[in-house]
Amino acid sequence: MAAGTSIGLFGPNGHGKTTLLMTISGIIDPWRGDILFEGERLNREGERKSQLSRNINYDVIRRRRMDPKKVARAGLIHVSQGNTLYPEMTIAETLAIAPIAANGRVEETESLDKVYSLFPKLYERQDQKARFLSGGERQMLSVSAALMAAPKLLLLDEPTLGLSPKLRLELAEAIRAIKADGVPLLVVDQDVEFLESLIDTLYLFDHGRISRRIEKEDLPSYEEIMSLLFEGAS
Ligand SMILES: Nc1ncnc2c1ncn2[C@@H]1O[C@H](COP(=O)(O)OP(=O)(O)OP(=O)(O)O)[C@@H](O)[C@H]1O
Ligand SMILES: [Mg+2]
Repeated sequence: MAAGTSIGLFGPNGHGKTTLLMTISGIIDPWRGDILFEGERLNREGERKSQLSRNINYDVIRRRRMDPKKVARAGLIHVSQGNTLYPEMTIAETLAIAPIAANGRVEETESLDKVYSLFPKLYERQDQKARFLSGGERQMLSVSAALMAAPKLLLLDEPTLGLSPKLRLELAEAIRAIKADGVPLLVVDQDVEFLESLIDTLYLFDHGRISRRIEKEDLPSYEEIMSLLFEGAS
């Protein structure tokens, strides 16, 4: 993808969109292939030799092709599907540790002001533990923590999933503001209209592969997109 542009991924449930994002950010260690960002290869050379153990085994971790820390330091920041906050940490505590991933790219107080003005609810509830927050507030906190990490590319995996229509709109508005502020996005969502308002290019995703690339100005109607995906047309 070209520098500074935003892309969307749209495809049926269970076809591997989350897996692709997790592979890009190194949460899943890829068997082969390269992950390049701003001309830098983020993985080690060579193929993965064997299935890794699921146990925490530091020797195995050292042998990974991808190191998620390196990915975050390069500025690829991933907000995973559902949210993966630390339930016992408060909003303020969560936002205080997030800049570790920023690798010195920003002034922390400046991003904290920005985040709290984007989501005033988080400011009001800053001493609440994550486990007491509503789904919408948790999603806002996940996005905010990602912003505190000063993303050069923000990966958003179904950021409005499971939210009420009102909260969806609120979060969508905030994500549009983030994009307008100059943060490029790689966003997965089931709502094509929402994607359209954010992106320059849409990729259709089908059975683990990108099946089609569509520029924003050529975006067909929702019905046409569905028929491209489900009727095998190309
Ligand atoms: N390229 C692939 N080849 C084979 N299996 C895959 C591939 N990508 C993902 N899978 C498997 O498919 C299943 C669903 O993947 P994943 O959760 O990434 O899909 P998704 O598109 O994000 O779905 P959802 O819309 O439900 O979020 C997982 O079990 C995953 O391991
Ligand atoms: Mg998914």
